[in-house]
Amino acid sequence: MCGIVGYVGKNNPIESLIDGLKKLEYRGYDSSGIAIKGNNNIQIIKSTGRIIELEDKIKETKLIKSNLGIAHTRWATHGEANEINAHPHKVGKVTLVHNGIIENARDLKNKLVNEGIVFRSETDTEVAAAVINAYYKGNPIQAITKAIKQLKGSFAFGLIFEDQDKLYAVRKDSPLIVGIGEDENFIASDIAAIIKYTDKYMLLDDNEVVELSKNEVNVYKDGEKIDKKVETSNISIEDANKGSYKHFMLKEIMEEPIVLQRTLNKYLKKPSKLFDVSDYEEIHIVACGSALYAGMVGRVLLEEKANIRCITECASEYRYKKVIYDRKTLVILVSQSGETADTIAAMRKAHEEGIDTLAIVNVTTSTIAREAKNSIFIEAGPEIAVATTKAYLLQVAMFSLIALNTAKSKELEKNYEKIVDEGKHISKYLNKILKDKDIFKEVGKELKNCKDAFYIGRGIDYAICKEGSLKLKEVSYTHSDAYEAGELKHGTISLIEDDMPVIAVITDEKIKDKTESNVIEVEARAAKIFTITNDDSIKNHHFKYVVEKISDYFQPILIVPPLQLIGYYTADSRNLDIDKPRNLAKSVTVE
Ligand code: AGP
Repeated sequence: MCGIVGYVGKNNPIESLIDGLKKLEYRGYDSSGIAIKGNNNIQIIKSTGRIIELEDKIKETKLIKSNLGIAHTRWATHGEANEINAHPHKVGKVTLVHNGIIENARDLKNKLVNEGIVFRSETDTEVAAAVINAYYKGNPIQAITKAIKQLKGSFAFGLIFEDQDKLYAVRKDSPLIVGIGEDENFIASDIAAIIKYTDKYMLLDDNEVVELSKNEVNVYKDGEKIDKKVETSNISIEDANKGSYKHFMLKEIMEEPIVLQRTLNKYLKKPSKLFDVSDYEEIHIVACGSALYAGMVGRVLLEEKANIRCITECASEYRYKKVIYDRKTLVILVSQSGETADTIAAMRKAHEEGIDTLAIVNVTTSTIAREAKNSIFIEAGPEIAVATTKAYLLQVAMFSLIALNTAKSKELEKNYEKIVDEGKHISKYLNKILKDKDIFKEVGKELKNCKDAFYIGRGIDYAICKEGSLKLKEVSYTHSDAYEAGELKHGTISLIEDDMPVIAVITDEKIKDKTESNVIEVEARAAKIFTITNDDSIKNHHFKYVVEKISDYFQPILIVPPLQLIGYYTADSRNLDIDKPRNLAKSVTVE
């Protein structure tokens, strides 16, 4: 995934381009670049590394006078992260930046090389620029419209032409919005990049070409001008900034009580029928990464509380496997960004089979939000840190509500009102946990030098362990795995060494003794035990943190922040770049 910004208007573009890139750096940060248009030339400046390195390079460069430009921050897919492969790419009169993957780039490149085109980079993006340039005879809309018919795969392009004073853009399967300012207009991968300048935006649909000048925005579909609605974003500038927190990740964990209570209250006051899935005989929960792990929690709740058959599957497998739809099925897609390529593909597979889909999504303007048959919006606000925290928590909370409302509809839950009331006050339990955050800071310091860590639990506790382990892995680079506690003795226990940290999650009353026995097994092999539980009677082997015991529906919500804080503070003890971990991107919009 990469970040794109474009500007045309009353000012010099540099400030808004760099400012926008900084807000999009979480989308990719191995290299970046800008291109600005002068009277009859285009100046391109690129750099490897973070945006600050590009900014320094720009400061050292004599810049042409300009009021039009495009910019890009990269997460390398085709071609290594170096300056040559960094965007923008210029071929002939066309200069462009790209987010996505052109799947037929190799064939197109071979054809163009045979026609004498010389390529400098290894990127699919340069190939796209060459294809558009080949069609360019003076009319950018026409050239872009024809060229994209040759491209397979996903793209969001920002383009400028050497002999035009307008900004152009087009998208397919990758996000791109148009920002409408005062005597200036923008394109960006998401609204957070330009919210400082405008809260008015347009959503582009696939293959719509947009032409922007200082005072005019025209959108074309197959060369014909079409009307588009201008919307107003409700995110605030502070949402896009870190405030007093050291990292966005910590800020977003600390926001959890507010965003959770706000969303729960909205849906508890007036539960939408979307939360009752009792019409279906089987539920497939399909997602990637943390979103999948939220689905694993949801699966246990749906099976145990709503007595509905449920499977979970990672989207990269689901999209290609043989799926048997032999009973009335609902596919639930979980995605913070709503732009994860594998999850989009899984959704489209379900649609091809005539299967209903329900999205649990954060970004309301995303592809999944717009294409799923129905969507439940978690309203977590923009999540900037690459490692998800508040969005994952709200994804889990949505499954709590789906299980609760479906159980009620099937007359399986006699304490519905009591549980609703608990949900309306859950933030007080979360606030208490977050007030104890320094306890987890000490745990993080204790784990500072650990190379491996295991998370163990049974049933719903195991599903929560999956996310706890991923948090530790992705921000602290510690090798970690989550295991069904009963599975350790079937091989993995051979890995337990002196003082190896084992984080045990024990909340399920029915099987807590069994998990406790597994804890004793690993302690007998000199592991260091960190227990997160809702039961004060559980033995403290080394470290124990007890959360409030509440209903099964909402109990997972209280276990999550301690695990997120352990991951965060372990990484912080190592002074790592927590908001932008190496090799990661916020949303993987490519296969
Ligand atoms: C979350 O910490 C990870 N960065 C990653 O696993 C993420 O959850 C996954 O890529 C799915 O993203 P999505 O929710 O935007 O679809």
